[in-house]
Amino acid sequence: MRFEKQQGYPDTLVVDNIIGGEERPGRESYASCSPADLRDVVTRAPHTSREDVNEACKKAGAAQQRWARVPAPQRAQVIGRLGQLLRERKEELSRFASREMGKPIREARGSVQEAIDTCDFFQSEGRRLYGQTVPSELQDKELYTYRRPVGVVGVITAGNFPVAVPSWKIVPALLCGNSVVWKPSDDAPGTGALFADLWYRAGLPRDVLSIVHGGGAKSAGEFVIEQVDEGLLNKISFTGSTEIGKKVGEVCGRNLQIPSLELGGKNPLVVLADANLELAVEGALWSSFGTGGQRCTSCGNIIVASSVVAEFTERLAERARKLCMGEPLNEKIDYGPIINERFLKNWEAQREVGLSDGAELLLDGRRVTADNAPANFAGDAEHGLYAAPRIFKNVKMSMRIAQEECFGPTVNLVEVGDFDEAMAAANGTPYGLSSAIYTSDAQTMLRFKEGISAGMSSINNSTTGAEAHLPFGGTGWSGNGTRESGIWVIDAYTRWHAVNVDLAGKLQLAQIDNPEDDASGAPDWSAITP
Ligand code: UN1
Repeated sequence: MRFEKQQGYPDTLVVDNIIGGEERPGRESYASCSPADLRDVVTRAPHTSREDVNEACKKAGAAQQRWARVPAPQRAQVIGRLGQLLRERKEELSRFASREMGKPIREARGSVQEAIDTCDFFQSEGRRLYGQTVPSELQDKELYTYRRPVGVVGVITAGNFPVAVPSWKIVPALLCGNSVVWKPSDDAPGTGALFADLWYRAGLPRDVLSIVHGGGAKSAGEFVIEQVDEGLLNKISFTGSTEIGKKVGEVCGRNLQIPSLELGGKNPLVVLADANLELAVEGALWSSFGTGGQRCTSCGNIIVASSVVAEFTERLAERARKLCMGEPLNEKIDYGPIINERFLKNWEAQREVGLSDGAELLLDGRRVTADNAPANFAGDAEHGLYAAPRIFKNVKMSMRIAQEECFGPTVNLVEVGDFDEAMAAANGTPYGLSSAIYTSDAQTMLRFKEGISAGMSSINNSTTGAEAHLPFGGTGWSGNGTRESGIWVIDAYTRWHAVNVDLAGKLQLAQIDNPEDDASGAPDWSAITP
């Protein structure tokens, strides 16, 4: 990896693939440009051929055998050192990520902090990774359970959390003794390369983590998934769209593997009549427009009780109108650019979807141009990919706009009569990632917690911002039930191994040599020796 000068902008980071510990340039390269100014080439990264991905997986297989033999507490020391390096380089890495994928610097710091928190958690997990001792039904026999690594893990991640989400996967995968072939997002290859480099600096054997870059339709990501059919990967951990997640699920399913799938969401935020409205507006604003609505946990539908809908709508629109978009390194902005042109185009097309559904525009957010930029706009409208806040009102749950995920600064207002109607609306999409409710009644909180079909719920807080040591994941189209983070993720990267050790010196048969009660209720223990 090296830096190259470019005129008028900070240096371009030029990265190679790392395959089996060796830096390997691809046949062609592509430019990862800042979405805040597309003239700024932040990173130049290679496209990866099918052959190179195949080789990366083979080499990861050989490396895994040795890595699994390293005692878990020693593997965890690498994670501890990674956490330390992330702390030291937090500002540098945050600034780079912010420039490369457009997240506001304040949030980029939060996202690196999430990776640090993940390292802190798993550093000490290396001294646990508990198995169990289990009593045997037979004399002089011992039973144990062990967690074993699953093998070689293919990790594919999205661009919106280019450090945090990869850390959720790679940290526990490596801690558990797996090796990893990682395909970072083509929107953040430089951030990915810098993160991988910190792993090597922390002492990870270079062949245990390979990194393959690429973008476009037939890209490294697809080649990684193909390696499951080749028998070279034992697991895929994927964060991205439900559409691709289903494809990953198909390939893994036919190979009898369980992938970790962290997919889309259409996250509901319910505002009831007894809510603290100020708090609810604040939470709804952040849930919908924080990170430009580009989190899988961003709010899609705000479901509001009719008695407060007028006041809530007015206050939300007033706040949304004042949101400040701009250059991501500017500490004062509310949100930055859209991560890439494709996302922006999809987001633009959603406007027509909403209108043809019959929804009404409360705030007609459009792509920001030099002509329509709001007064407080703090970016470059000509060269950046910006989108102004859009709010649809009078949305019905039957509308497409209420059902489909819309990655970007858009939210729908859905009016409901009572709590039951609110619950039906909140559960009325195929997704089930995150959710939130604003109410001051404890009974209602309880009924929401019990009734909501989502992996995560907030009471009087935003749909986003899950903490790094709670299980993260969803139901329905949001995932396949696997979880990231905390102790729960360990199940995703290990398989249970049951072992019995027989010290009796004779063949003992479970279920057969174990005396059962006879009709008198007296088991025959005559064979038990002192
Ligand atoms: C994502 O958008 O894929 O809960 C992850 C949150 C963040 C992670 C989001 N901690 O919003």
